[in-house]
Amino acid sequence: TDAYDTILVERKGRTALLTLNRPNALNALNALNLQVMNEVVAATEALDRDPDVGCIVLTGSAKAFAAGADIKEMRPQSYLDMYLSDWFTAWDRLGQLRTPTVAAVAGYALGGGCELAMLCDILLAADTAVFGQPEIKLGVIPGIGGSQRLTRAVGKAKAMELCLTGRTMDAAEAERAGLVSRVVPADELLGEALAVAETVAGMSLPVAMMAKEAVARAFETTLAEGVRFERRLFHAVFATADQKEGMSAFIDKRPPHFTHR
Ligand code: CAA
Repeated sequence: TDAYDTILVERKGRTALLTLNRPNALNALNALNLQVMNEVVAATEALDRDPDVGCIVLTGSAKAFAAGADIKEMRPQSYLDMYLSDWFTAWDRLGQLRTPTVAAVAGYALGGGCELAMLCDILLAADTAVFGQPEIKLGVIPGIGGSQRLTRAVGKAKAMELCLTGRTMDAAEAERAGLVSRVVPADELLGEALAVAETVAGMSLPVAMMAKEAVARAFETTLAEGVRFERRLFHAVFATADQKEGMSAFIDKRPPHFTHR
């Protein structure tokens, strides 16, 4: 139904599944050209506006979540081309989505692929996943936030090594380093990601949005300001019907029925 060429969008209940899908390109390595960027941003923003969507899963192929920005598209660009078009800035809008997002990563998540995964809220990896910021090997540096988000996720030691040498991390190392929340067998990845998404989508949407906003704030501000921000949101959830429902359901020993209000 959706008029996209490089992605597939499916709905499963309150979960939306977005699959990077450049079938004719690069052996399903899902290189991220500007068309992919524009389609992913347009599709996720449309889903974000839909109150019937409670969680968005982003995935790729078995071989690659995404092998990075499209090197063939970038090679001829000049500084002015990049500056005037503000190359890659649209990807930032993925980080502005209010609906929780899950990245389900199998195979290569390199360069822009790793950055795209890090733009999502929950990062699940298949045991086949490979993460890295190998841009330096191409004579460039990360351009979709990798030097910042990787450093915040795994700390300076690993981020420096990865960005300066271009070496990659396997799924086990990525989990030890705190880049991914969990590693699962490759054939269970999508099922697990959809199960996590269904769980999130079953929560109160406004409360899930606030939980996401609160955790995301930890990346942006000081501890004191972050705690103060959390406290204000915590007070605000008491304006929702779902707070009364969630607490009543617990006390009545029954499952909650959230109305997302
Ligand atoms: N952009 C454009 N084309 C790419 C590509 C990319 N990121 N990654 C792979 N390809 C192309 C290859 O050039 C090759 O094309 P041809 O068939 O025309 O020769 C095809 O995809 C298949 O690739 P390989 O033969 O290399 O496949 P492989 O299975 O041997 O290796 C790989 C897979 C390890 C992912 C390897 O392709 C690779 O290292 N790719 C580049 C990864 C990379 O450097 N990513 C960072 C890009 S820069 C970036 O992302 C900037 C940023 O910060 C946003």
